[in-house]
Amino acid sequence: MNRRQFLTVSAGMGAMGWLGANPVWAAMDHAKRDGGAMPQALKTVADMPLLPETALTAGQSHVPLAPLRNTATAPQRFEATLTAAAHEVELTTGKKTPMWLYNGQVPGPLIEAFEGDEVEIRFINQLAQASTIHWHGLPVPPEQDGNPHDAVPAGGERVYRFKLPDNCAGTYWYHPHPHGDTPEQAYRGLAGLFIVRSKNDPLTAFAEQHLVISDLKLDTEGLIPDNTANDWMNGREGQFVLVNGQREPVVTIAGRQRLRIWNACSARYLRLAIPGQKMTLVATDGGLLEKPILKDEILLVPGQRTEVIVGDGKAATLPLKALAYDREKMGNVAPEVDRVLIQLNFASGPTPAIPIQLRKIADFGRATALKKVEFSETMSMDNGVHSMAFLVNGKSFDMNRVDLTSKLNEVEVWEIFNNSHMDHPFHIHGTQFIVLDSKLNGKRRNAPYRALHDTINLRPYETVRIKTVQHDKGLRMFHCHILEHEGQGMMAQLLVK
Ligand code: C2O
Ligand code: CU
Ligand code: CU
Repeated sequence: MNRRQFLTVSAGMGAMGWLGANPVWAAMDHAKRDGGAMPQALKTVADMPLLPETALTAGQSHVPLAPLRNTATAPQRFEATLTAAAHEVELTTGKKTPMWLYNGQVPGPLIEAFEGDEVEIRFINQLAQASTIHWHGLPVPPEQDGNPHDAVPAGGERVYRFKLPDNCAGTYWYHPHPHGDTPEQAYRGLAGLFIVRSKNDPLTAFAEQHLVISDLKLDTEGLIPDNTANDWMNGREGQFVLVNGQREPVVTIAGRQRLRIWNACSARYLRLAIPGQKMTLVATDGGLLEKPILKDEILLVPGQRTEVIVGDGKAATLPLKALAYDREKMGNVAPEVDRVLIQLNFASGPTPAIPIQLRKIADFGRATALKKVEFSETMSMDNGVHSMAFLVNGKSFDMNRVDLTSKLNEVEVWEIFNNSHMDHPFHIHGTQFIVLDSKLNGKRRNAPYRALHDTINLRPYETVRIKTVQHDKGLRMFHCHILEHEGQGMMAQLLVK
């Protein structure tokens, strides 16, 4: 199967002005141009009225994540089952929303395991389409990492097996990664959380809370609509921004606490801030920083995670906000606004001191190879039809093509260039990287501190240089983590040999 997806729109509307104009969508036969690959028209609906934000109750107290129960009987093992299936959920009174969920939960269950553990997850796919589970950010061998090549068919099942190596403690997540259908499976509700703990965590004195930020689009019937043209173009943003499935919950912070925060949105950027209070950043995607850093705001792009310490033991009520962030969307889109995500209810409680040193992050050693990656967008006119594509190194994703090759354990510099007018978050599977520097408008800037990431944002026309290494042989994906862009082909393959 070599299915390609193209976003196409009939001619007669200006290339940039057509978004608001009730576009007419057409499947195009690109078979000749693309050497036999048959494209499939993207499922698209017109813009439609949506439920008002107030349709979901705000101000309830924050519900902790439901843990995935470990059924292993031996020590240092984590065994459980994840079932993806359709469920009806009553999110707003009197309206049933059909969702696709892991174990019936919004968001999916939280896996908590330790470095050194052997993990064995049975995945049962009760969806009507093929799926996989991808362990975002974790150093999992390619054949266990839910690549699109290893799809579990509708009604099928498989077991994912991997060992959590030393030094991988951090905040991760899992989500589907089938070919082409990742955006839909994610916006219908499939995503879950994964925390790897270390026996030597320097922050165990702090109570911990978990905030999974996702968004959800509901029409006036309470149904989840397909993507509009604008969603496919800019990435889908639902009108509801949810925290552990709730709108604007109240989180009580007794004393000084550690928050783990996930951006599980398909496309929404979160410029996190608590106006009037600084946050102490202690960890990024791949775990702890070397030293804590005081921050007024933290940009968390789709796919990324962060850990912060907040609170000083004084009573106060302050919002955690996502401040307006302009990621240069296309077409006529609503202006960006500040949004309240959570009401933080600071109360008295223990205020342990934050250690001044958290750990050492090795810099991987000297790089002996260089890779270049370019993100781009094209809009072309073909037989009277406008066609839009999101590309990596000038090409749309093809499961049967290897785009780059790396040597096992060779340290590499990757130079990633966003040759487009919109922000795109770069993500690579199976490993973490250190950002070296970035260049924007001719100005070079060194990374201000050493941190491990698996996802990093690129502003329009920005170049970011990272240092990374792959420790398993096999195929890895790298892509834009705006899921609608990934689903349309802004993804490529790295073969590690
Ligand atoms: Cu979180 Cu390839 O994705
Ligand atoms: Cu990933
Ligand atoms: Cu993108």
